[in-house]
Amino acid sequence: MPSKTETLYLHAKQRIPGGTQLLSKRPEMMAPDLWPAYYQKAFGCEVIDLDGRHYYDMSTCGIGSCMLGFADPEVTEAVVKAVKDGSMSSLNCYEEVELADKLCQIHPWATQARFARTGGESMAIAVRIARSTTDKNEVAICGYHGWTDWYIAANLGDSNNLRNMLLPGLDAYGVPEQLRGTTHTFSYGDQASFLELIKNRGNKLAAVVMEPMRHHAPPAGFMELIRSECDKYGIILIFDEITIGWRYCFGGSHLNFGVNPDIAVFAKALGNGHPIGAVIGTAEAMSGVSRSFISSTYWTERVGPAAALATIAKMEKSNAAKYVNDFGVKMMAVWTELGEKHQVKLHTTSEVGCLASFAFDYPDANAIRTLYTQLMLEQGFLAGCAIYPTLSHNEAILNKFTGTADAVFAQLAKAISLNQVESSLRGPVAHTTFQRLIK
Ligand SMILES: Cc1ncc(COP(=O)(O)O)c(C=O)c1O
Repeated sequence: MPSKTETLYLHAKQRIPGGTQLLSKRPEMMAPDLWPAYYQKAFGCEVIDLDGRHYYDMSTCGIGSCMLGFADPEVTEAVVKAVKDGSMSSLNCYEEVELADKLCQIHPWATQARFARTGGESMAIAVRIARSTTDKNEVAICGYHGWTDWYIAANLGDSNNLRNMLLPGLDAYGVPEQLRGTTHTFSYGDQASFLELIKNRGNKLAAVVMEPMRHHAPPAGFMELIRSECDKYGIILIFDEITIGWRYCFGGSHLNFGVNPDIAVFAKALGNGHPIGAVIGTAEAMSGVSRSFISSTYWTERVGPAAALATIAKMEKSNAAKYVNDFGVKMMAVWTELGEKHQVKLHTTSEVGCLASFAFDYPDANAIRTLYTQLMLEQGFLAGCAIYPTLSHNEAILNKFTGTADAVFAQLAKAISLNQVESSLRGPVAHTTFQRLIK
């Protein structure tokens, strides 16, 4: 008999186009027909699904949004107070000014901040500001920056332009053809591809938009080169810290390697599960705000800023970034040791523990990943080839995970050697269209 979770998801696929609001939360991305689509409770790194089954989340932990763990008590207390005191009014919430001050104090190069509620819209705001400030249209990118037109326009004319930005083969349906040629790509760490683009388009560029790092720190001199070319051509440098910010180190990852942008953008971990996005910048870079129209009712609600203030306070006092990096390094050691012990070929794909990940080294790696997830689910773990560790993961949970994964790797090794990976699957092989998390 199908579970409540499965039945509801089958219904949702008829009622909600795409099934979910976020591609990465489709069960098909992990283990089709098996991965629980819905939860009733989430706390720390534990989840109870609709059928009452308990799981430890050793996967993306809210797609990177909950670095302190789900329903963190201190953040929840601040949010509940904000709700009880009125999360909306005809006046503004004072917490947004406190949050602006705090972000500028942590990033002394910035003096101003605007707020939104999601990552994608915050990035759209940052690009709008850059275009308004510089009076130029074109943009250069080398990372993932969300769902909006300015970004997906990169794939107009060639659906593979974003292949290195983790959206290979994505057709730009619904994005006006007129935007073709407004967003250009270059490769992360590749000085030659950046310089070539600057040579051709430098005078037209309003912004260079990039994730300052993801799984690997920038190669020596790369960020410095980008900074100096942006200065030379009057281009606004925007760092998208939505995934790596707070996680690699407290504040933006760029604080660690000493090259400042003109604008930086935060979301995800900033609210620890509550919607808040921030665009901070120098007064000069932000000057285009007042010439443009950037305004929305729910950007004024109170829960987001209240959550962000509590989250920042806890991340700071607990040194959460160090904790999640150390935990992720231990996870990568466990994967490597189990691979060696059971002779399952794999390699880790991240240099940083805060975004720990690995890949199986087989032609049918995706089927093996699906089987791994299936077997871990049967033992009460949400697990794939990547984890966004949280402050709530601890040694006891790591030990439980290691013991379970040890037995699962033995089963995997057997299935691989007998050529029985696909026949051991209880559902189809997972989809890979959105490959960001397993790169
Ligand atoms: C670097 C980066 N930028 C932007 C986004 C988009 O953020 P959101 O999903 O909140 O719209 C993401 C989300 O994964 C991201 O990782």
